[in-house]
Amino acid sequence: MIDIQTKEDILIGALPYIQRYEGKTFVIKYGGAAMTDAALKESFAKDVTLLKKIGINVVIVHGGGNAVSELSTRLGIEPRFVGGQRYTDPETLKMVVMTLTGTVNKDVVGLINHAGGNALGLSGIDNNLITAKKHAPKGIDLGLVGEVESVNAEFLNSLISTGIIPVIAPLGVSADGEVYNINADIAASGIAQALCAEKLFFLSDTEGVLVEGELVPTLTNARAQQYIKQGIISGGMIPKVNAAFEALANGVHKVHLINGAAKHSLLLEIFTHEGVGTQIIREERVFASRSTGEHVAKGLTPKQDLLDFSNMTKQDVEDLLHLTDVLKKSDAKPLAGKHVTLLFQKPSLRTRVSFEVGVSQLGGTSLYLSNEGIGLGERESVKDVARVLSSYSDCIVARLFDHNVLLGLAEYSTVPVVNALTDLSHPCQILADMYTVRQFGKLRPGLKVAFIGDGNNVANSWIEMAAIYPMHLSIAAPAGYHPDPRLMESANRSGISTIEIVSDPRIAADSADVIYTDVWTSMGQEEEKQERLAAFKDYQVNKPLIQLAHPNALIMHCLPAHRGEEITDEAMESKNSVVFVQAENRLHVQKALLATLLSDTSTLAALGVDESNDPSMENYEQTETSVYHS
Ligand code: CP
Ligand code: NVA
Repeated sequence: MIDIQTKEDILIGALPYIQRYEGKTFVIKYGGAAMTDAALKESFAKDVTLLKKIGINVVIVHGGGNAVSELSTRLGIEPRFVGGQRYTDPETLKMVVMTLTGTVNKDVVGLINHAGGNALGLSGIDNNLITAKKHAPKGIDLGLVGEVESVNAEFLNSLISTGIIPVIAPLGVSADGEVYNINADIAASGIAQALCAEKLFFLSDTEGVLVEGELVPTLTNARAQQYIKQGIISGGMIPKVNAAFEALANGVHKVHLINGAAKHSLLLEIFTHEGVGTQIIREERVFASRSTGEHVAKGLTPKQDLLDFSNMTKQDVEDLLHLTDVLKKSDAKPLAGKHVTLLFQKPSLRTRVSFEVGVSQLGGTSLYLSNEGIGLGERESVKDVARVLSSYSDCIVARLFDHNVLLGLAEYSTVPVVNALTDLSHPCQILADMYTVRQFGKLRPGLKVAFIGDGNNVANSWIEMAAIYPMHLSIAAPAGYHPDPRLMESANRSGISTIEIVSDPRIAADSADVIYTDVWTSMGQEEEKQERLAAFKDYQVNKPLIQLAHPNALIMHCLPAHRGEEITDEAMESKNSVVFVQAENRLHVQKALLATLLSDTSTLAALGVDESNDPSMENYEQTETSVYHS
């Protein structure tokens, strides 16, 4: 039995997804056991009806189940195979049309209508819904098997706009009237592309993509191709994965492979953080460039920057953490011959030293420039500094006050720019923190991070991370010191995590896996110190607060710390404190970051980054039981 609290959590947890998907179109390829088992059929029909009732447009494309084979056995027609694939001769096509548009289509329509949906059955032939041409993969003649040429999206949209759930049998018709049998995955992908669907689901009898028995929750193209090459993705999964990438390349936002043999898998995949299947996402360049202006006008190759996390995906984060593991065990020099310039307007211990040492360990050279000698934007314009430094360096690592100055620097530099902290954000810190959280086995579904204190740059970067990596982020900050509202809004819009701002630090700390804090007075705010001491006095990370967290909660601080202010000496020194591991990890993770930004794919491949990547547990080390809970 689920208790009331769990029920409430499930319902409330679904709210951001409901808001996000209202008015969007989902195309579902319906097949496998979900089409034959009575209980699964009913659960599918209810799920689809629920989606429709909450304002999502649903389009269903069904396969044939076993119906075609059963009928051909009954009629004594022997199936013919060419190159392992079924050949569709005119007799077989008649049977396919009969079963798909007859029994199967009407069965699905009846089920959904019985559950309260407004389903309407049709095939790709009706109103020329799917225009097809002969499909002959690798020159093999499969008879009357077609591929999608075009889809009458206008017609489908007109049905959708009247509240109808179209249920489509995967047949197509050519310009000269020839009818073709189309693989249902391919038909669904074609329809999803034509409708620019938000999501395309493939419902089959497997959980998704499995590697050594473990479900892969997120897959990008490069990795999928690698899995196909290694034989990890094989058989019927290959056309599904390829149909998924075709859809993603042509406007579909996400594709999900889910197990229709598990009840309500559709709802769980859509409305929970963890999901239940494999989601396939568009290939993004790691830290994809936002280069605009002169850079692009000059026709230069887009460069990769790390200014924030908005151009990163969850997979990028996991790949970076994996590369960190690889580099920790390697003495490779992927930065040989490269030069990195550090331009710092503010003081630094960790960031400066970890970048300088990291560059040197990777075989490169670096130069530290404090702003006194440069006068960024005063002695010389940001634009000119960017151009000049680009001509001497392969990368600029900048610690600046104004984030807009960083954006300007990135726009006019022709080499990657890394945000080494601005008044707005501190992404390098959070990447190292994610590595630390993972190192202690906490980077797993349900992770709760409690940030206690000033909603400044470090808190802002946690919010940006929560926009791409699922977690529950609870920020306790006094009024007037909340994080940047634009970042909150965009992270909430992403629907990836649950993020809350509370005034009571005890609510944030409750059952948290991580208790995180930062100084109350940041660099540049020294004049506000007295005011801030008063505002934050109830926001100290101390024994009573930590006792509310999980017994093995990690105590984290980006450092420098002001002991006795935002954190007690006792908390800093407790067994749960990982603050110095965090500091060390700045070095390791930034090395991986630089290698990613500055090396080409073959250099990275030579490091062995293609080897198996278990993103969550690789370096699992259980912390000792907390001193506070003994
Ligand atoms: N955490 C951090 O960025 O430290 P520094 O300011 O010393 O670089
Ligand atoms: N919020 C702090 C972080 C230091 C790493 C500051 O900006 O000073």
